[in-house]
Formats: sequence, C-alpha cells, structure tokens
Amino acid sequence: MVEPASVPERAPAAVLARAAVAAGYAPSVHNTQPWRWSAHPDRLELHAERDRQLSAADPQGRLLMISCGAALDHALVALRAQGWAAEADTGSDPDRPDLLATVTASNRTPVTPGAKRLFEALATRRTDRRPVSEQPVGAPALATIQRAVTGRARLQPLTREQVLELAAAADAASTVESADPAIRAELAYWTGRSARGGVGLTAGVLPGRAPRTTVPDRDFGRAGTLVVGSGHDRAATYLLLYGDDDEPASWLRAGEALSAAWLTAETLGVSVLPLSVTIEVAGTRQLLRRLLSGLGHPYLVLRLGIADPDQPGPPHTPRISPAGLVEIATL
Ligand SMILES: Cc1cc2nc3c(=O)[nH]c(=O)nc-3n(C[C@H](O)[C@H](O)[C@H](O)COP(=O)(O)O)c2cc1C
Repeated sequence: MVEPASVPERAPAAVLARAAVAAGYAPSVHNTQPWRWSAHPDRLELHAERDRQLSAADPQGRLLMISCGAALDHALVALRAQGWAAEADTGSDPDRPDLLATVTASNRTPVTPGAKRLFEALATRRTDRRPVSEQPVGAPALATIQRAVTGRARLQPLTREQVLELAAAADAASTVESADPAIRAELAYWTGRSARGGVGLTAGVLPGRAPRTTVPDRDFGRAGTLVVGSGHDRAATYLLLYGDDDEPASWLRAGEALSAAWLTAETLGVSVLPLSVTIEVAGTRQLLRRLLSGLGHPYLVLRLGIADPDQPGPPHTPRISPAGLVEIATL
C-alpha cells in the first residue's frame, strides 16, 4: 500500500501576523522603521517603505536595507521561537522592486532554549549611547557574537591603531554632514517633535551631554535628557560589519546579520551601539574599506561593551503601532 505523501503543516495566518508585529522591535537608522509587512494566509511579505528613507543621508538606501534586514531576521526569530521552521526568500522581483523578502513557515521544529532566549532578547534589546563600563567584552562572548553573523556578513574587530583612525574618520564624517543643510534638516526632523507617531528619536534616548568615548557618535544637533556618567568607554571593542558586495541584497543580509549579532549580544549581557556616520559619507566609507585591507565592503561600525552596572538602562525608543506596519491581506 502506498503511504499518502505527508502534507507539510503551515503556520496559521495569525502566527505569521504576530511575527511581523514582533519585528517592530527591530533597530533602524534614526528609528525610521522603513518597512511594511503584508501578512497573507500562507506568507509574509516584507516591503521597503521609501517614504521613511533618509533621502539626504542615505540616498542609495544602504541603511534602509540594513534596517529592513534587521526586521526580517526579527520575524524569523519570532517564528522559530514558536516552533516553526521559517525561511525567507529574498530573490528580487523586477516588477515589485520594493518587495524585499517573502517569509514562509511550513514545518514544525522543536523550540530550542537558544531560540527562546533570542526571542526574549527582542523586547529587552535597546540602543545605549552612553559610555560602557571599564569591563571589556570577554573573548568567548566576542567569538559567539562573531559566529552569529556567519553566512550573512562578517565582523572584524579593529586594532587600537585602527580605532584611532576610525575616530578621526567619525569626526571628519560628522563635519561633512553638519555642513550639509539637507542632512541637517533631515536629522532635525527625525530628532524633533515633527517626527510623531512612534518614529524618530525622543529626547529621553539622546545623551544629555557628549559622552566620553574614543569614537564619537554622530552629532545629533541637540542634547537629549539621558543622564551620562563620567566614565570613558576605553574598554569598548569596535568592529566592522562587512561583506563581499556593496549592493542592496548584501545590505539586506547585513541587516539580518546585525539583528543576529545584537540579539546574541543581548543574551550575553553585551551592549551594542551601531555607528553609521562614517558609512554615510563616501570618503570615510572608502577609508573603512582600506581598514579592511580589501577583504570586503564595510556596512556598519559596531561598538561592543558591557553597560555600566551603576546606570539603569535607557528608555525604549517608541515604535509605530502594529496597524501602521502590518497589513492583513486575504490572498
Ligand atoms: C542601520 C542602522 C544605523 C544606525 N546608526 C546609528 C548611529 O549612527 N548612531 C546611533 O546612536 N544609533 C544608530 N542606530 C541605532 C538606532 O538609532 C536605533 O536602533 C533606533 O533608534 C531604535 O532604538 P532601539 O535600538 O533602542 O530600539 C542605527 C541603527 C541601525 C539599524
């Protein structure tokens, strides 16, 4: 007798929609959340939301794609934590250029403790722009975070000399951006009251004064209200997230890698700060490429450290409501 072929079990539409909602926790440049999901009965579609692209600082959409890649990985993490073997097809469709990925979940899989921990990290992870403590990140934790990006990008720790070059590049890139009225206006929008509805950076997450740090963050053009201690982040590790190509598909993968690295770091008690100003300015991006000695193209600078245990974590940055990011489709 012929056994009937087993029909793969498919994740219910509500499970898919919940994963898209969970992806709303993903980090994004200036908290622009430049994506939109359509939740179909059998799949999730991730679309780029060009209205929230930084047209002055990110005209090529590199940071938009990295942000969308982070949202994509968050959705996959959410599905795996609910016992679904989720997959993303990121093949491009010339007729729908802003359709970045299609996610399907069509088989049950055991939920590992690691998958649960990554899912829990979704809601606790946040950007902390204050100096990290004097305690360096241990080599085993660093190696685990580096392994987390495998297959999508690579993470290269920088030497002391390279960090000093990076610091000079960050200063130079900030000077270039501060002299550009369009970039200044864009930053003022995303850090000001005009950006409402759960997007942009609130005063509560921006440092009240310039933190003592080796590599400066971008000049946000305004002081926030986050209390900054007197420590210096000299114990931090700076890394470059990089890969073989410099094109939209590799930026999306870089975003998935960023999410994987950051969620893994969160489970290990390691704080991550992405720094993108040197990526935004073409001249300093080339300089970072030279720091990689031709090994690849830089996507993002990451500062890793152990948060100061004497300071409570910064507040969470607000988010767009689920209804604004996830549309339920019937077909
Ligand atoms: C591609 C990308 C670039 C970013 N660049 C910077 C940066 O240069 N400086 C910074 O302080 N934060 C940067 N961030 C962090 C975002 O501002 C942060 O993820 C967002 O405001 C949401 O806050 P949360 O991470 O606390 O959830 C970046 C994030 C992403 C994904």
